[in-house]
Amino acid sequence: MEATLWTPLLCLLSLMAIFTSTRGGGDPLDLNGNITLRWDVMSWTPDGYVALVNIANYQQYRTVMEPGWRLQWTWARKEVIWSTVGARPLHRGDCSSFKGNMPASCMRSPTIVDLTADVPLTDQIAGCCKGGVLLTQLQDARKSTAEFQIAVGNAGTTKKTVQMPKNYTLTVPGGRYSCSTAKIVRPTQFLSPDRRRITQALMTWQVVCRHTPPRGYKPPCCVSLSSDRGLKIPCGTCACNCKPSDARSCAPKSPVQCTNHMCPVSINWHLLSRSKGSVRWFEVSISNLNRRANYTDWILMIQHPVAQKFASADTNYWSLPPKLGSMEVVWGIKHYSRGLGPLGSGRSTAKFEISYEGSPGKWNFSSNVFFNGDRCANPPLPR
Ligand SMILES: *[C@@H]1O[C@H](CO)[C@@H](O)[C@H](O)[C@H]1NC(C)=O
Ligand SMILES: *[C@@H]1O[C@H](CO)[C@@H](O)[C@H](O)[C@H]1NC(C)=O
Ligand SMILES: *[C@@H]1O[C@H](CO)[C@@H](O)[C@H](O)[C@H]1NC(C)=O
Ligand SMILES: *[C@@H]1O[C@H](CO)[C@@H](O)[C@H](O)[C@H]1NC(C)=O
Repeated sequence: MEATLWTPLLCLLSLMAIFTSTRGGGDPLDLNGNITLRWDVMSWTPDGYVALVNIANYQQYRTVMEPGWRLQWTWARKEVIWSTVGARPLHRGDCSSFKGNMPASCMRSPTIVDLTADVPLTDQIAGCCKGGVLLTQLQDARKSTAEFQIAVGNAGTTKKTVQMPKNYTLTVPGGRYSCSTAKIVRPTQFLSPDRRRITQALMTWQVVCRHTPPRGYKPPCCVSLSSDRGLKIPCGTCACNCKPSDARSCAPKSPVQCTNHMCPVSINWHLLSRSKGSVRWFEVSISNLNRRANYTDWILMIQHPVAQKFASADTNYWSLPPKLGSMEVVWGIKHYSRGLGPLGSGRSTAKFEISYEGSPGKWNFSSNVFFNGDRCANPPLPR
């Protein structure tokens, strides 16, 4: 009985493994997914301009987690950053040619990092200071964007003479985004706080960045299976980050708990015995096994190849359009099923129940699971 319940799943996993290994760059499950940078020039200054920079996460199930994004570009000429509000340049660089007023950065390729919410109000602007974290719009539209202001000197002071920065790159923990060249777009319009007046940027350019999986991808999570009837398929040995022969990867100093898979996050699908006929019920448990990482704002994308009825308890959920099979996105509700805090915080596990319906015999289970956008290692197939 047990075997027949799981057999389709096991076949499926092997099929999906073949499918995913042929994946190239970008994300075939989220074709338009991108992070868009928008620069709105708000005023000209004697030697340059002041711009509002907006960073918006338009990916359906990928977030940017702590310690957050870093934005870099290369100036077209010899521009400098006089000041920033709501973010800051990482390095000052060589400002030796300046007397008196000192720019915040003279780097030819400056790197900007976000501030945290606890900086003084004078260093903040509306929409800023989120510690570099970008959630998805589904989780929280306000937390899916970042905003900062930048005063640029040694730059053009008109639409004709200003030069857009080149070679934008966005780096995030465990990965990077490749960005398009800047393109001039229609000036952004702004509604005044009293909503009675519309102003517009003097000039706007836009850059579209797409996630680029790193070479030698290491999954940050693994999937295991179990059931009320005693079935157990644990995460694969060294599914994330070790060599079976390498005992050092299990050093006591490692922030990730020592396990045979060394994954910072593990996800267990537990088949409940109340599953009957065509309906399969699972309890899904997500465990944070990292003592330092905080995944409170987790988001899970579950991909399964046939449209099946999906039910859930204790979570939000949302279905992606069924382009490549059908997919479900699940994330935690505040103060309820969230709580994927660091290991040892007492709240390092999140649980929810989910059911699928399919015609008996043709039933199959989700094939791939993505945690915060990254694909998890599937359970190993028994021989
Ligand atoms: C999954 O279900 C679909 C539709 O019922 C079926 O065509 C397919 O063969 C199944 N896959 C596996 C591996 O059982
Ligand atoms: C970036 O995402 C937005 C929002 O989904 C979409 O409208 C736009 O077409 C995307 N851009 C590209 C170049 O894919
Ligand atoms: C673009 O940026 C990348 C990463 O910062 C850097 O390695 C590369 O040299 C830059 N290219 C140019 C043409 O500036
Ligand atoms: C984890 O992050 C959440 C949201 O950012 C925060 O409220 C919580 O205090 C953090 N927990 C720990 C243990 O750092």
